[in-house]
Amino acid sequence: MDFYDVIRKRRSIRSYKPDQIEEDKLNRILNAAMLAPSAANRQPVYFVVVKNDETKRRLKDAYSQKWFYTAPIIICACALPDGAWKRGDGKPYVDVDVTIAMDHLILAAFNEGLGTCWIAAFKSKIVKEVLCIPDNVEPLILTPVGYPEEIPEPTYRKPLTEMIREIE
Ligand SMILES: Cc1cc2nc3c(=O)[nH]c(=O)nc-3n(C[C@H](O)[C@H](O)[C@H](O)COP(=O)(O)O)c2cc1C
Repeated sequence: MDFYDVIRKRRSIRSYKPDQIEEDKLNRILNAAMLAPSAANRQPVYFVVVKNDETKRRLKDAYSQKWFYTAPIIICACALPDGAWKRGDGKPYVDVDVTIAMDHLILAAFNEGLGTCWIAAFKSKIVKEVLCIPDNVEPLILTPVGYPEEIPEPTYRKPLTEMIREIE
C-alpha cells in the first residue's frame, strides 16, 4: 500500500473476525517493530505475543472490554528502562523508544490488512503477573491484532495550523 494511504486509512479497530493470522504476516509486523530507531540505538523494547486462550482469559482482569478478546492475537509492548538512554538532565526516553517500535508494528499491521488498537488503560500489575513480565520491565501498550470486522469512520483531527508554530 502507498505509505500515505497507510497513515491516512489506519483506524483503531474495536471488533475482529476470529480468523487466524498467517505466521509470515505476524513475522513481518514484528520485524517492522524491530527495525524502528531508538535513542542511542539501545533498543530497550520487547514484545510479548499472546495467542493462548487461557492467557487471554486471565488478561480480562487487567482489561475487561469484550471486543478486545475477539482478536486472535494480543501483543504487549514492554519497556526495559534499565537499558534505555537518558538525556543529560535525566529525562528518560524509554517510552519514546517503545512507542516508535509499536507505531512501526501498528502501521505494518495495517499494511498487511490487519487491525490493531493502542490500549493504555489496563491494570499494569495484573498484566505483569499474567504475562510473567519481570520487575525491571514495564508493560506500556497492548494491542489486539486481527482481521477487522468493522472499519470505523475517521476520528477528528485538529487542523494542521493548530499543531504547528513557525519561528522565523
Ligand atoms: C497511547 C495511546 C493509548 C490509547 N489507549 C486506548 C485505550 O486504552 N482504549 C481505547 O479504546 N483506545 C485507546 N487508544 C486509541 C485512541 O482512542 C485512538 O487512537 C484515537 O481516538 C484516534 O482514533 P484512531 O486511532 O481510529 O485514528 C489509545 C491510543 C494511544 C495512541
